[in-house]
Amino acid sequence: MAGYPLKVHNTFGFDVRAQFACRIEREEQLLAAVRDPRVEGLPRLVLGGGSNVMLTGDFAGLVLLVALRGRRVVREDQDAWYVEAAGGEPWHEFVAWTLAQGMPGLENLALIPGTVGAAPIQNIGAYGLEMCERFASLRAIELVTGEAVELDGDACRFGYRDSLFKREGRERFVIASVTFRLPKAWQPRAGYADLARELAARGPAASAGQAEGAATQPTAQAIFDAVVAVRRAKLPDPLELGNAGSFFKNPVIDAAQFEALKRREPEVVSYVQADGRVKLAAGWLIDRCGWKGRAMGAAAVHERQALVLVNRGGASGTEVLALARAIQHDVFERFGVELEAEPVCL
Ligand code: EPU
Repeated sequence: MAGYPLKVHNTFGFDVRAQFACRIEREEQLLAAVRDPRVEGLPRLVLGGGSNVMLTGDFAGLVLLVALRGRRVVREDQDAWYVEAAGGEPWHEFVAWTLAQGMPGLENLALIPGTVGAAPIQNIGAYGLEMCERFASLRAIELVTGEAVELDGDACRFGYRDSLFKREGRERFVIASVTFRLPKAWQPRAGYADLARELAARGPAASAGQAEGAATQPTAQAIFDAVVAVRRAKLPDPLELGNAGSFFKNPVIDAAQFEALKRREPEVVSYVQADGRVKLAAGWLIDRCGWKGRAMGAAAVHERQALVLVNRGGASGTEVLALARAIQHDVFERFGVELEAEPVCL
């Protein structure tokens, strides 16, 4: 297909093309783009940083490249700051900016690739925090009507790496901006194993000095720095090695299935959920099946985190998908657990 190259618009670095593409720098451009008679009836794909998508081939439709920029404090009350950022703002830069403004709360989500507008789509989460916990509302443009709608957290139906925008809302909305609520009574979230280990290794310098005798606690900046360090050590930089973060979700199974599994595999890494079900570490399951560091052609399992599939150079989406299927097969054979892909596969 001739058309528009998407290689730099997807973090896997797949060399695919879109039949049509339009860069959106102002909201008004959206409607003109989707109402252009040349693209009538064609499928649409909204791309921010392309960090949550698996393009298995050329896209026969219109790609909207969201490049809306801008960030500001919209209001403040006794309890919180409300900070808004446009959909095309790079996520990590935004997190760093909120900290520099003295408004902590997003530090656990440092260095996640992608844009602000992509964050609600899969309700990004890391190191003990999910985006929905800091979410206030978002402004989306409905592509059919051209109308702007304001959606709160309930309307977005956030779940674990999930939201309305990953499902029926996928072709319906473009996220123009997101507003976060950052509570003034900030509390560090430092319990996640890897993060706690990194903070401890950094010593007391990572903790805020407190009144004598009181326990010290890490500052938001220290958490930010520690998260950046852990991510750099474990997760590949998409600019150096194509990837989309975790390729699979951590599966959740019921208590009975877990008990049976635990008898067979006593070391299985697990987290009991509020509803009694049990979340398993997919990275551990994949690792145990011997997949860590293995490759099928140019598609490979990352050497330091088995949950991340990488493009070693020149891999196609189909190759990565074949690797993913082989992994799913082995994990199911050994553990009886199904792994679900995290990125949207097209
Ligand atoms: N593990 C292994 N081998 C591996 C990878 C992991 O044994 O190759 C074990 C670890 O030792 C640990 C457990 O599995 O006991 C969990 O590993 P880790 O702490 O690295 O977290 P994860 O469950 O694999 C999740 C998120 C990541 C997020 C980290 C940190 C999902 C699907 N992934 O990974 O999110 O950064 O926790 O919070 O929930 C993403 O979604 O793209 C992503 C990178």
